[in-house]
Amino acid sequence: MRRFLVAGNWKMHGSSEMTADLISGVARRAFDAARLSEQKELSYDILVCPPAPYLGQAANHSESLPIAVGAQNVSQHESGAFTGEVSLAMLSEIGCEYVLLGHSERRELFGESDTLIAEKFAACVANSSASIVPVLCIGETLEDRQSGDTEAVVEAQLDAVINKVGIAAFDNAVIAYEPVWAIGTGETASPEQAQEVHAFIRAKLNGLDSAIADKIRIVYGGSVKPSNAGELFAQKDIDGGLIGGASLDVDSFSGICEATQKLIENT
Ligand code: PGA
Repeated sequence: MRRFLVAGNWKMHGSSEMTADLISGVARRAFDAARLSEQKELSYDILVCPPAPYLGQAANHSESLPIAVGAQNVSQHESGAFTGEVSLAMLSEIGCEYVLLGHSERRELFGESDTLIAEKFAACVANSSASIVPVLCIGETLEDRQSGDTEAVVEAQLDAVINKVGIAAFDNAVIAYEPVWAIGTGETASPEQAQEVHAFIRAKLNGLDSAIADKIRIVYGGSVKPSNAGELFAQKDIDGGLIGGASLDVDSFSGICEATQKLIENT
């Protein structure tokens, strides 16, 4: 059985104070809920992705807690004259374990192409000593969905990476399906809509390597909240969430963690 992943993408929000408070608060609530459960331990993964300046602090703060830290972006280069960029080795040195790649805001606002995202993914794979897990974000726009192109768009975004790194590279990766029209809009894909695309992604991977398709976590992102997380994550091919707005507050992020805990208990 795949382990759920509840990941918070803080985007360009936060402060040093928030980093400490949020990590402590979420860990406390998650521990409390887990203690009361049958399992008595946290049986899903929690990840926070704060802005780059707070990553070191977040990693130190969460060292003894069951919360992993991830970056929101990374350079495809190892080192050199790349002003403003951050390398995988640097992220690894300060304790990051994951990195988001190809978030729709990076694609749209910063012009990140499928090719560039594939290069970043390839860098994660090549730099095995950094051991940073790529979280590949894919998803269609409203226009794509309305014109019936959801599957083609998602497949092309996946293919760009698979063609560069090969399917074996997905052995240690996460895919985040985030329909662009649901990100930060308050509009969520229905559990059925999300499941349909997740199943499509898994079937596509299954055609290439069934063990990887079975093992890989495909998380959903786009206006996940405590009130809809349980129903979304209950879908067969949804293995957790990538959460933006609701990850900025202890109550709402913990509410999503608690919904996950409940789901695990009831299955
Ligand atoms: P949202 O963001 O939860 O605020 O919709 C999700 C994301 O961008 O990863």
